[in-house]
This record gives sequence, structure tokens and C-alpha cells, in this order.
Amino acid sequence: MSAPIRFPSDFLWGCATSAYQIEGSPLADGAGPSIWHRFTRTPGLTRDGENGDIASDHYRRYKDDVALMRRLGLNSYRFSIAWARVLPEGKGRVNPAGLAFYDRLVDELLAAGIAPNVTLYHWDLPAALDDRGGWLTPDIADWFADYAQVVYRKLDDRVKMWATLNEPWVVTDGGYLHGALAPGHKNFYEAPLASHHLMRAHGKAVQAYRAEGKHKIGLVVNIEPKYPASQSPEDLAATQRADAYMNRQYLDPALLGSYPPELKDIFGEAWPDWPAEDFALIKQPLDFIGLNYYTRNVTRHDEANWPLRASGVKQAGATYSETGWEVYAQGLTDTLAWIRDRYGNPEIYVTENGSAFYDPPVAEDGAIDDPLRVSYLKKHLRAVHAAIEAGCNLRGYYAWSLLDNFEWSLGYSKRFGIVHVDYATQQRTIKASGKLYAEVIASHGAVL
Ligand code: NOJ
Repeated sequence: MSAPIRFPSDFLWGCATSAYQIEGSPLADGAGPSIWHRFTRTPGLTRDGENGDIASDHYRRYKDDVALMRRLGLNSYRFSIAWARVLPEGKGRVNPAGLAFYDRLVDELLAAGIAPNVTLYHWDLPAALDDRGGWLTPDIADWFADYAQVVYRKLDDRVKMWATLNEPWVVTDGGYLHGALAPGHKNFYEAPLASHHLMRAHGKAVQAYRAEGKHKIGLVVNIEPKYPASQSPEDLAATQRADAYMNRQYLDPALLGSYPPELKDIFGEAWPDWPAEDFALIKQPLDFIGLNYYTRNVTRHDEANWPLRASGVKQAGATYSETGWEVYAQGLTDTLAWIRDRYGNPEIYVTENGSAFYDPPVAEDGAIDDPLRVSYLKKHLRAVHAAIEAGCNLRGYYAWSLLDNFEWSLGYSKRFGIVHVDYATQQRTIKASGKLYAEVIASHGAVL
């Protein structure tokens, strides 16, 4: 029998959310519209035209939600700040009422003994900046750093963990290459530009933090490990391309100071030769890496899937979540070990991990039995523990998500919460997965 699981006593146990996905009231108190506000108003872009106007109504119910976090026993909470609440036009004029919301939230968290972990950009660019070119213009690096500075000045006295960007890969792949996410562009030439300007913006915001802040700042990336479908040279090369595109495109420049060479193979002439000084800006010393992990990919060569020329192979007998993602916990341990080895064992947090599964209606006794999410959570927490045992410098875990919420273009059809939200009444009910998580936290993992 293996030894009982016991996580370190100072391990961070959290849940993660993002502003547009849970807050609702997107234009309240003088906020400007974001690209998601605009995207959801364009017919046909989100499921059933759903939007974040109400979402999980967290903007108005944040006190109840902090009380809920306390019931779960969380000692940290990861959320994002809506740039357009703070600067309605994205730059220039600050909106004190928007900033005040996050000020109140931070105070409420601290009073509950919960450490805030703040992400500056979780995909809701102010629409006014999109009109000026958004992530396609080099100017955005300064706009982002200026916004970040306003927020640092307000909150760094109480916020000890910051992240610049959430999942830059999704921003470019979804927003600029395939168009499934805001701003909805499908442009091969734009994707490399957006990618590079995101990283320059990251670099400038970290520099601004060093001038203003006293605590920790990092970058949050999504990693989906790629395993070759066969040992054929074509599949192995496809696996390398997919890995470079999704997994190394952001971590390599941020931590090693260069892009993976495969990107030129994928993008050809659309991938520019960037000036050396850009890499000096992008590669800023970071205090930690945030890892968002959901699934793996078994990769094969596929000429038809342009421009990557790679696609995933379904695994017989595996469980797939409602978003079509294979449940594969070993991939989380593997990914943490890969980061340990490739990037010099940085301090790391699992900043998101979770699954969308169908939930039964609330039972008469108020219970919500979500066995597939329970099983997912258990397996992944064991995988996290295995990574710590294997020497990864892993300091905390955040479940995605605290609440059911707006899953972007999929609307409200996918529920990731460990707490159920009845969207008709906004009533919150802790699911079986939430109860399990509370037990794990209280026992430092012993119940696993
Ligand atoms: C990662 C993103 O950061 C988050 O916004 C999203 O809801 C989850 N993945 C689930 O797809």
C-alpha cells in the first residue's frame, strides 16, 4: 500500500473564476464594454446568443460567494479584474467606482482569511482598445502596463499574488486564428502578431510590477501535453509542432528568451523575425508559473488540419467530459515534471483544473451528486500530490471553478462549478465535488 497522502501545511487551496464569466452587471458603475460584451451581442457567435449580462451575478453577490469559499475552507481565491471596469476606454481615464469593487472584494476575502490571487487579463479586453487595434498593435504593451500600474497601486498592499495574462494561447488561437472567441478574427497573419504583443505586454506589466509591487507576479498558461499516436516520423513531427504551438509558444520566450523553431514551420512567412530587444523585454524574471491543466492530446499527423498539420486521436475506453476532453490525470503529473525539467523547476501553482459534466437536478434533500466530477477531482489531486513527491516546486491548487458560469461561446451549457448555480434564482448549492474538496482541504489530502 502506498503511504497516505498529506499535502504540505502551507499549501494553497483555492478555486478560480474570471470576471466576465461570473460577475454579470458588465456596464455597472461606469464600466466600459469589453470585447466579450460586444461579441455576445453579435448574432450567432455564442450558444443561443447567451451572454455575461447576469452570469453568476457575482458582482452583486460577492459577499455571499466569499462566505461560500469560507465554508469550503479555501485559503486562496483566484479571480480576474475586468480592465474595462477600471479604465472604461481601456486607457486614460480611471473609473474609481469600478476599481472600488475589487477593493471591497479583496477586503472581504482577507477578512475571511482567504488570500487573493489576481489575474490582470482574462480575455475581456476593453472594446475601445479593440477599436484601436487590440492585441494587433504594438501600443497595447504600454496600455496594458499602464492599466496594471493603476491596479497595483490600489491593491498591492493587500494582494500578494499577481498574474499578467491568463492563457495567451487561447487568446490568439481562439480570438485571432479560428475566431471562436472574442474578437472573433480568423486571420493566419494576425495570430503571430497577437501572440507576440501579448508577450510584450506581459513583459511590460512585469517591469511595472517591479517598480510598484512588493510581492509575487507570474504568468498563467494552459498546457495540454502531446503524446504521439505512433512512433512514425510524421506523427512524431506532428507531436512536436503541436507541443511547440500550444505548450512552448509562451513559456519559451517568457522563461528561455526565444520562440520554439517549429513556429516558423507552422506559420511560414506569417511568423516574423522579431527584434532581439523584444526578447529582453519578454523574458522578465518571474516569481511563479500558473498552470491550467484540463486534458491531454494524443497527436497524429493530419495534413487537412491547417496550419498545424496535426490533430488528436480519440482514445478507446477513455472517459470524455462534456467539452470532449479526455480525463487523463497522469498528464498533469507529466506536465508538472516537464516544467520542472525544461524550465528549471520554477515555483508553480495549478491555477485551474476541472471538468464539465452534466449535473442532476438538486435532490429534495438539497444534494447534487456529480460522481464524474468527484472522480476527476480525486484523480487530479492525487496526480498533483505525485508531482510534489517527484520534486516539483508546486505550492497550490485552484479548482476550476468555484461556481457554474458562462463558458464563453458555449454559454451556460457547460457546468464546471463545484458549486451549482440555479440561473433562474441564483441560488448556490455545494455539489458532492465541493463537499469532497472541503474534506480534502480540511484533512490536507488524507481523504484521498
Ligand atoms: C480555461 C479558461 O481560463 C477558463 O476561462 C475556462 O472557462 C476554462 N478553461 C474551461 O474551459
